[in-house]
Amino acid sequence: MIAAPMAGGPSTPELVLAAASAGGIGFLAGGYKTAEQLVEQIAHVRAETNRFGVNLFVPNPVPVDPSEYQSYRSALQSWAEQYGVELPEGPREDDDAWHDKLQLLVENPAPVVSFTFGLADQKAITSLQHVGSTVLQTVTNAEEAQQAEAAGVDGLIVQSSQAGGHSGTWTPQLPLKDTTTLPLVRQIRAATPLPFWAAGGIATAAIVQDVLSAGAEAAVVGTVLLRSQESGASATHQSALASSSFSETLMTTAFSGRPARALRNAFTEEFTASAPLGFPALHYLTGPLRKASAAGGDPHAVNLWAGTGYPEATAEPAAAILRRLAGE
Ligand SMILES: Cc1cc2nc3c(=O)[nH]c(=O)nc-3n(C[C@H](O)[C@H](O)[C@H](O)COP(=O)(O)O)c2cc1C
Repeated sequence: MIAAPMAGGPSTPELVLAAASAGGIGFLAGGYKTAEQLVEQIAHVRAETNRFGVNLFVPNPVPVDPSEYQSYRSALQSWAEQYGVELPEGPREDDDAWHDKLQLLVENPAPVVSFTFGLADQKAITSLQHVGSTVLQTVTNAEEAQQAEAAGVDGLIVQSSQAGGHSGTWTPQLPLKDTTTLPLVRQIRAATPLPFWAAGGIATAAIVQDVLSAGAEAAVVGTVLLRSQESGASATHQSALASSSFSETLMTTAFSGRPARALRNAFTEEFTASAPLGFPALHYLTGPLRKASAAGGDPHAVNLWAGTGYPEATAEPAAAILRRLAGE
């Protein structure tokens, strides 16, 4: 069992250590952090275990159209007033400090490094392999799997659109295929000899067994750990996952400009149909609103990332959840 990387707070060093204690592997989420914050988290985990991975966002920007940005900003204005926040004026684009984080992983090697959002360049892959890291690439379909194989990665994380949070798709501007995890695992097994782990909506021991029987070497879970004792997800996010007021997930670009699966709430209802693409510009645009909403215990303007298995998310120690899913 693998504890998925979950950027934005949920993946704490404690969650990673809990996964290791259960005989699994946990991932630190490098995304959105500074390189310095990531170094600290790595040191914390490394002091206790060598069973961990680090995940990075590969720069694969979806630049926002400036006029679409401004009209989306105007549409959000009444929400900003209601929540008492200022929205950033112009679009902010960046590469999530890619070079700094890569450099830090070359200088402080992690046992496993995984990439999402795009294919890492060959130089990045080999530089990590040279320092002893196992390099995994997140893929969402057979074409991506074959390109990752050609680029020389050691293995794949096969993520279906059932997964909570951002899709790792390399082409966020194209409609996502909604193949569920088990058929996707079979497709990838047929498409490449590389070893891989499966992710997306995995929430019961039976599904874990199914993906392993279909050819995955391990099951990666995110959403079922969001309410665990070690989760750093906000209290607002955790209680929404347990609340009967939320009864569905959907894919939306409304929060970040990149497709992601979340619980349907007032924000996704109002903006999913009209939100433009544009990552990370929309992530920064909606940031103040999301923060204010979460801080006030109000789930309606928060990105409530959740995979399709969210009803199975329980408030327990993470190791107990992982052991149960492993069938122990
Ligand atoms: C809150 C949240 C944040 C996530 N952040 C990341 C991330 O930073 N990097 C990444 O590769 N995947 C991220 N994901 C996707 C997970 O790594 C994983 O693929 C997904 O959680 C598996 O599906 P599940 O949520 O249905 O278990 C995130 C998922 C969630 C729920």
